[in-house]
Amino acid sequence: MAEPMLPVRYRVAGRTVETRDSATLRLVPLGPALDRFRPGQFAMLYAYPVGEVPISISGIGADGALTHTVRSVGAVSRALHDAQPGTVIGVRGPFGTAWAPEDAAGNDLVVVAGGVGLAPLRPVVLAALAARSAYRRIVLIAGARTPDEFLFRAELAAWAARDDLEVELTVDRPADGWDGTVGFVTDPLTRLRLDPERTAAFLCGPEPMMRFSARVLLRDQVPPARIRVSLERSMKCGIALCGHCQLGPLLVCRDGPVVSYAVAEPLLAVPEL
Ligand SMILES: Cc1cc2nc3c(=O)[nH]c(=O)nc-3n(C[C@H](O)[C@H](O)[C@H](O)COP(=O)(O)OP(=O)(O)OC[C@H]3O[C@@H](n4cnc5c(N)ncnc54)[C@H](O)[C@@H]3O)c2cc1C
Ligand code: FES
Repeated sequence: MAEPMLPVRYRVAGRTVETRDSATLRLVPLGPALDRFRPGQFAMLYAYPVGEVPISISGIGADGALTHTVRSVGAVSRALHDAQPGTVIGVRGPFGTAWAPEDAAGNDLVVVAGGVGLAPLRPVVLAALAARSAYRRIVLIAGARTPDEFLFRAELAAWAARDDLEVELTVDRPADGWDGTVGFVTDPLTRLRLDPERTAAFLCGPEPMMRFSARVLLRDQVPPARIRVSLERSMKCGIALCGHCQLGPLLVCRDGPVVSYAVAEPLLAVPEL
């Protein structure tokens, strides 16, 4: 493994505009690649000379390329979002826990994403589709504020056209031509006829979205240990040294971001410092 505090240089090999404020970067190593990332893990991305932030992996290339989808909210994420092909970015990782979709093999897999939360879940859907016969139902419910704010729009359309994947898209505010649901992701989630003994659910998005979605699943008798969520806390070292990401008993950079809802439930009420 590379020295964990030393960024490894990657070059932006491709940039896809996803929405008004989000872009997907394809990064290729300038030297030896970092170890392989698993769905749910994150990298610390260094935008020289601005700074470093945690960004999940949104695609995993067999060739050592990394795909990250960045929403511009502040100085560092803006610099990453704006990085054009050819820009050199520092990368540390892989860090954190993984969704481990293979643990859900043999069961129904329900994936619920809100906004940019679809980015860390995209590799789960791709992994599950690559091993399609290992699962029973695969359901993806994704929500966005408006139809223009969905990430991976072409891919979502292709997924929705498949008959081995159930896709439900929902928006807060519809636009002309929108024929999906209007409302929260909990609406289509409530309509699913789940087999609670055979359901595994992965949730990622704003914390209230994860809390409300988990409540629907719990009400439907899905055990909390089979619901996984991704926690976000601001991070500095990424390797359990600085304490910056502490949340209750967890160091989220090491013990998360993906945790079972049994662990997350009392912690989701704790505001970030
Ligand atoms: C494990 C992990 C994985 C992440 N994966 C991704 C990812 O795949 N894609 C991605 O775009 N972001 C992701 N994030 C969030 C990303 O790290 C933050 O957006 C980034 O740190 C913001 O840094 P900044 O310097 O650009 O903005 P700051 O100057 O730190 O923040 C600017 C403003 O944005 C607010 N803000 C900060 N983070 C967020 C947020 N997540 N959502 C909404 N508002 C926020 C701040 O409160 C502040 O008001 C992830 C975070 C964690 C912990
Ligand atoms: S970010 Fe330093 S301990 Fe987690």
